[in-house]
Amino acid sequence: MPKSIIVGSGSEIGKNRITNDALSKVLDTNDAWIRERSGVETRYYVDAGTSTSDLGVIAAERAIENSGVAKEEVDLVISATMTPDYFFPGNSGIYQTRLGLRQIPCFDIRQQCVGFLYGLQLADAHIRSGLAKTVLLVGAEVHTGFMPFSPKTWDVIHGRDPGPISAEDFEWNSRFRHLLVLFGDGASAVVLKGHDEADRGIVETILCGDGKDLDKLYVPGTGFRFRPYTSPEQFARGDHVPVMDGRAVFKMATTRMIEVATEVMKRNGVSVSDLSLVLMHQANMRINEYCAKHLGIPKEKIVHNIERYGNTTAATIPLLFDEAARAGKVQEGDLILMVAFGAGMNWGATLMRA
Ligand code: UT7
Repeated sequence: MPKSIIVGSGSEIGKNRITNDALSKVLDTNDAWIRERSGVETRYYVDAGTSTSDLGVIAAERAIENSGVAKEEVDLVISATMTPDYFFPGNSGIYQTRLGLRQIPCFDIRQQCVGFLYGLQLADAHIRSGLAKTVLLVGAEVHTGFMPFSPKTWDVIHGRDPGPISAEDFEWNSRFRHLLVLFGDGASAVVLKGHDEADRGIVETILCGDGKDLDKLYVPGTGFRFRPYTSPEQFARGDHVPVMDGRAVFKMATTRMIEVATEVMKRNGVSVSDLSLVLMHQANMRINEYCAKHLGIPKEKIVHNIERYGNTTAATIPLLFDEAARAGKVQEGDLILMVAFGAGMNWGATLMRA
């Protein structure tokens, strides 16, 4: 059975660098709080009108180029995103057509922060079974569409207007402050290929899901349980903005990430000393520090970029991989652990020999 190897990666982020100070002008927050509680220092926002697939196409082009694979070879596209360009269809067909790929199977998955790991397992399963030989997997998000800001607020954030915004807008924006400060826009893609080299490739992915805590992190409005599925009243209530019980999610994330990382290492007879690199979902630096401490992973084996990009949901892990690979931190034969937790709730871990 062939094993799946990542043969190329590429990324693209929103073009506007947004500091914590810029956000403090439009909502009740400050640089010290955001750094201390989350580790985020900056994030990047797209311009209005730039979509998830706009970033994803650039990331995918770079990944394909970096892999040296011809576009005709790609025989499956998987798109992981919770912020697709349209309610339907998903972004995978947009990638297929905009990249000029053949008329191959294209599908979207919706596992939020664990989307990339769910995508990796799907890609791996297709490759192992012989259904696909060369898979493009794109994790991409434009979160700014969720942000309930007025045109004036956007102008102040982007420095086109010195402010201040109205007291009413400031109060409205501040209602969502615990969530809005965490997220940024970004995309990253990988190309996977089947190889017969027994000692390289994805070793195992363990995935878990449990819907009972769905309401700890979800978007309460704009869904097909409503008739019509969207309405001005929902927007007036702010039901289009994700609801997040930060403390509950923090607790679940630390528990589940430690559990699943331990399980994937145990099942494969691997210990922390065998790992070369650890890529953890970038939701909160404190979550990752807690997990690393409990798993006994030394700092030098972990890379992070939450301080620059914030949480880019499905793009966090491939972004880390792409940066590490370009910095020469991924060498053939290295054992890499990836671990993530997110809305759903979903969580998972992958062991991969580069
Ligand atoms: O990938 C998606 C998965 N999401 C996550 O993994 C998120 C997990 N949770 C977290 O990252 C953290 O819970 C947060 C960063 C969201 C919040 O940090 P926290 O240490 O859990 O803070 P908290 O929610 O307990 O709030 C502490 C205080 C509160 O004020 P009071 O009640 O103590 O007066 C909040 O109102 O901090 C206040 N607060 C803020 N202050 C300044 C909440 N957000 C902000 C803010 N700026 N942006």
